[in-house]
Amino acid sequence: MNPCEIGCPKSHVDTPALLVDLDALEYNIRKMAAFFKDKEAKLRPHVKTHKTPAIALKQLKEGAVGITCQKLSEAEVMARSGIRDILISNQIIGKQKIGRLIELARSNDLKVAVDSSQNVEDISEAAAANRVTIGVVVEVDVGMNRCGVPPGEPALGLALKVERQRSVKFMGLMGYEGHTVTLSSHPERKREARKALSLLVDTRKFIEEKGVRCTIVSAGGTGTYEIAGSFPGITEVQAGSYATMDAKYGTVEGIGGTFKQALSLLAKVISKPSEDRVVIDAGMKAISHEFGMPVLEIDHRRLELSSLAEEHGIIRHPAAAKSMNVGDVIELIPTHGCTTINLHDFFCGIRKGIVECVWRIEARGKFQ
Ligand SMILES: Cc1ncc(COP(=O)(O)O)c(C=O)c1O
Repeated sequence: MNPCEIGCPKSHVDTPALLVDLDALEYNIRKMAAFFKDKEAKLRPHVKTHKTPAIALKQLKEGAVGITCQKLSEAEVMARSGIRDILISNQIIGKQKIGRLIELARSNDLKVAVDSSQNVEDISEAAAANRVTIGVVVEVDVGMNRCGVPPGEPALGLALKVERQRSVKFMGLMGYEGHTVTLSSHPERKREARKALSLLVDTRKFIEEKGVRCTIVSAGGTGTYEIAGSFPGITEVQAGSYATMDAKYGTVEGIGGTFKQALSLLAKVISKPSEDRVVIDAGMKAISHEFGMPVLEIDHRRLELSSLAEEHGIIRHPAAAKSMNVGDVIELIPTHGCTTINLHDFFCGIRKGIVECVWRIEARGKFQ
C-alpha cells in the first residue's frame, strides 16, 4: 500500500511519513558530483544512508563511479536494480555470507574489505571452488578504532597475503576517518582528517614500494569529502549523508551551508494535554535520537523535541505549544539520517509542496 497519493499536497500525507524534498536531493547530488568532476579522486557514494536504489541510480547518472554498501544484503538489493560496481566497506565473515558474496560476485564487479588473514583464506577458498575471483581492499585503521589493520607493515603483510591467493584480487586500501567527519570546526576537522588520510596514503606508498599496486584507495565521508577528495593518493570518496543530509551534519561548518536539508519526517499533533505540552504521533520507532533530539521549526524558531517515547514525541515549549493544535501537521528534521531512514518502508518524494513520487526504501532493515 502506498503511503500517499501522487499529486497530493504534502500536508495531506498520512503520518508519520518520511519525506524527501526532490529539489534539495537533486541539488545535493549535483553539487557533490560537480566537486569531483575535475578531481583525480572519484565519488563512490555510500548507500547505507538512503538505502534506496532510485537514489543510487541518480548518483550514478551524475557521474559516481560505483556505490559503497555497508552490508551484503544492501549490496544484493542494489545489484537487483542493475548496479554492478559495488564496494562492500565491511568484513564478510562466515560460511553462509561468503557463499552469498560469491553468488553476488558472479555477475557484479564486487570489492570487499578485509582485515584478517583467515578471512582472506576463507573468501579465496570459496571463490576458487566456485571459479570466481573477488576483489578485496585491505581495511586500514586510520584512527577510528573500529575495524582495520594498523597502517604500515601489518597492512603490507595482509596485502601480500592477498597477492599469494589464487581467487582474490588485491585492489588496494580502504580507511575511513569516521572519528573526524562530524568535528564541527573546519580547521580542526581538516587537521585531524589529514592526519588520518596521511596514514592511509603513506601505507599506499609503502606497499607500492614493495611492488604491489593499489588501484583503489578509498576514504572519506560527508564531513571530509573535500579534504579526502583533494588529498593526493586518495582515489575514491565514500560520502553518504550529503544526499539527504540531517540536523547533525547541518551544524558541521562548511557542510550545513553547502548541502540542503532534503530529509524530514512529517508528524501530526495527536494530543494537547496542557497549554505547555503537545504530543505528536512520531516516537523513536519513526525517528532516531542517538545524535540528539529531532529538530523542528515553529514560527521561524528552531526547537528540539523535548522527549521521545516508542510512539510519542513530546514538545514541551509553552510558546510553541500555544500555536499548535490537535490535528496540526509538523515537519521534524532527524539528527541522524541513516538510522531514521532505516526505520521506514517509503520515501514520499516532494517537489514544491506536492507528492511527485513514492520510492520504496528497498534496503531498509537489510543488516545481514
Ligand atoms: C565505512 C564508511 N564509509 C563512509 C561513511 C560515510 O558516511 P557519511 O557520509 O554519512 O559521513 C561511513 C559512515 O558511517 C562509513 O561507515
